[in-house]
Parts: sequence; structure tokens; C-alpha cells
Amino acid sequence: MSDISSLVQTQPTGRKKPLQRGARLTPRQVNLALELLVLGAIVTGLVSWSVGDRLSGVLTFAHGVCGITLALLIPAKMRGSVKTGFRRRRLSRWISTLFGVLVLATLALGMLHATGLWFGVGQWSALWTHELFGFATIPFLIWHVVTRPVRPTARDDDRRALLRFGGATAVAATLHVTQRFVAGSVDLAGGDRRSTGSHEIASGDPENMPSVIWLNDSSPRDTDAESWSLTIGGGVVPIDALRSVSRPINAKLDCTGGWWSEQAWDVVPLSSFFDAPIGRSVYVESITGYGRHFPLGELANLYLCVGYGGKPLRRGHGAPVRLVVPGRRGPEWIKWVTSVTVSDRPAWLQPPLPLT
Ligand code: HEM
Repeated sequence: MSDISSLVQTQPTGRKKPLQRGARLTPRQVNLALELLVLGAIVTGLVSWSVGDRLSGVLTFAHGVCGITLALLIPAKMRGSVKTGFRRRRLSRWISTLFGVLVLATLALGMLHATGLWFGVGQWSALWTHELFGFATIPFLIWHVVTRPVRPTARDDDRRALLRFGGATAVAATLHVTQRFVAGSVDLAGGDRRSTGSHEIASGDPENMPSVIWLNDSSPRDTDAESWSLTIGGGVVPIDALRSVSRPINAKLDCTGGWWSEQAWDVVPLSSFFDAPIGRSVYVESITGYGRHFPLGELANLYLCVGYGGKPLRRGHGAPVRLVVPGRRGPEWIKWVTSVTVSDRPAWLQPPLPLT
């Protein structure tokens, strides 16, 4: 039998205290870690949207690791400040509870989407609801940081705490990776997703491709191609003229709602309308007033689309003419385009997401 006296520390008082071999993170450290993880999840989620296909694999990996590490720290949070907070009976404990419930719901929906166990109801896809709940945590996170500040102290210079946090992150990374393999091997949809985390739906079958709309966009009533007014670089271009020169290209529309669909889009490259344009961005605007600037250097990757699979676009998909931008996420594929102009305003001056 091993000598258990090696597991006890001798105190200066002469009394013996058990060595804290498996010591846990302190409630302060757990709080700080959770705040950083929620922030990390929000930032990586948002940035993965705005970079499109570029770096999406790295960002969704980092996002999943933040989320799963957060889930692993929940028991520590419950044992620590949640227990103390409920003992104190302050009114603000209900705000904290709401924050906690929101984060738990966000986590659960993210995992349901990632595994493919549940896709949501109608327009309220599991991932879209997950993202909305994720955004809703922002004011709570700010409130939490302001009202319960975790000020760094000398005790925070704790190598063991860092190692423990690193260990939790490593376990989360392993779970994130194995989750995909396990989902694939038991035939769950989660095993077969793009690097953005989206699930495939209705590729080559535009009739069944979902039609969704970005938060601050709205569907126009009249989308008649004959009377449609489209101006490109100040000149009027009839939809029929576009149709007659359109050619199919295969591209994946990857919606921020968590699905992607590949179609043969009938397009005309926007570059064919501009000869040595001078400016800093291309501005594409919808009849709804919704629009985006694209860096001028991306002109060769912008296409005006009038149909798919040889058929005209449906209203919900942006009829009679929409933008196709391979590699960028759905909100940038402007629907119901009425004007394209070269602008002096750099694209980076606009918010990373179309919120105005
Ligand atoms: C409180 C904030 C958030 C938490 C804790 C969180 C957590 C998670 C978790 C745990 C997953 C599943 C990862 C996996 O099992 O593989 C996930 C997936 C995802 N989340 Fe979030 N999330 C948050 C906010 C957001 C926001 C604001 C966005 C978008 C702007 C977002 C976008 C996504 C996407 C695209 C996926 C699918 C990618 C993947 O499966 O890894 N999330 N999230």
C-alpha cells in the first residue's frame, strides 16, 4: 500500500491539510472563462459569416470548441457562483438566470443543428434560432461583465488553472471532431456538412430550394420581368437581353440559416458591363433598398442571375434578377436587383453584416 502521508501538506501550524491534487477552477476563474467563451463564440460565429468560404473551416472549428468548452464548464458554474447567487437572494439573480437559460438554449440548438438531430420549424431553423439567441446574449454579457467584474489579482497567475482550462479546451476540440465522425457513422445528417457547418438541401432541384430573406430585407410584390427596371453603370439593361446572353455556372448558395444548395445558375458576369472601371467598390442594390458594396477587385466573381436549371427565378429566389457571388454567404446574394454602380466608397466601410 502506498504511503498516504505523501498526499498531505504540512502546514506551518503543524496541522495537516489534504493536498488539492484534483483542485478545480475557482468560481472567479470559471466566470472569467465563461465570459471569454461566450464572447469567443459570438465573434467566431459572426466573423465566419462575413468571410464566406474563406477560413470558414477554421472559424467554425474555433466556434464549436468555444461552445463545447462552455458546456463542459457548466457543472463548475452551477457548483460555484450559481449556488452562491441563489443563496444571496438578490433580485438581479433573475437576470443572471435568464442569461444562463439563453446560453443553454443557444448551446442546445447549436448542437442539435450540428448533429442533424433537429432542423427546427419552418423559417425558424435550429441554427437561425441558435444565432438569434446567441445575439440576444450580447446585452446580458455586457451587463454581467459590468456588474460582476472579474478584476485580475496576483492569484490569477495560476499555471494549474490555465492547464485545466487548456485540458477542457482539448477535450472540447476532440468532442467537436469526433461528433462529426460519430454522426456520419450512425447516418445522422451532421456527418455531412460543409466547412461553414451548413447542411445540403435540394441541390439541382431549385423548385425545392428554400426561399428565405435576410432580417432587414423584404419581399417585393411586383417582380414582373417585362416592366423591371435594371440599370448597370447608369445604362438600362432589359431582363430579356440578360436572358439571351446568360450561361450556366454551378455555385453553392450557403444560407446563414444553416443550409446550402448547389444549382446551375443562369448568369451574366458583371465584369462584362464594365471596361476598366474606376472606383473602390461595386454597389449592388435591390428594389427593396437592401444593398451591399463589394471590393472592386471582386468584380470578376459577381454575376447577375436570371434563372436556374434553364427556368426563370422564382419570386422568393430573387426574380427577375439576383446576384450570385460564389464563396460568399447568402445575405450577400442580393435579390431583386435594380441597380449596379461603381462607387468611391470602400467595401470595408460598411458593417461586416448587412444591418443597415
Ligand atoms: C452564446 C453564444 C453562442 C454559443 C455558446 C454557441 C455555441 C455553439 C455550439 C456548441 C455549436 C455546435 C458545435 C458542434 O457541436 O459542432 C454551434 C454551432 C454553430 N453556431 Fe454557435 N454559438 C453561439 C452563438 C452563435 C452566433 C452569434 C452565430 C452566428 C453569428 C453562431 C453560428 C453557429 C454556426 C454557423 C454553427 C454551425 C457550425 C458548427 O457546427 O460548428 N453561433 N454554436
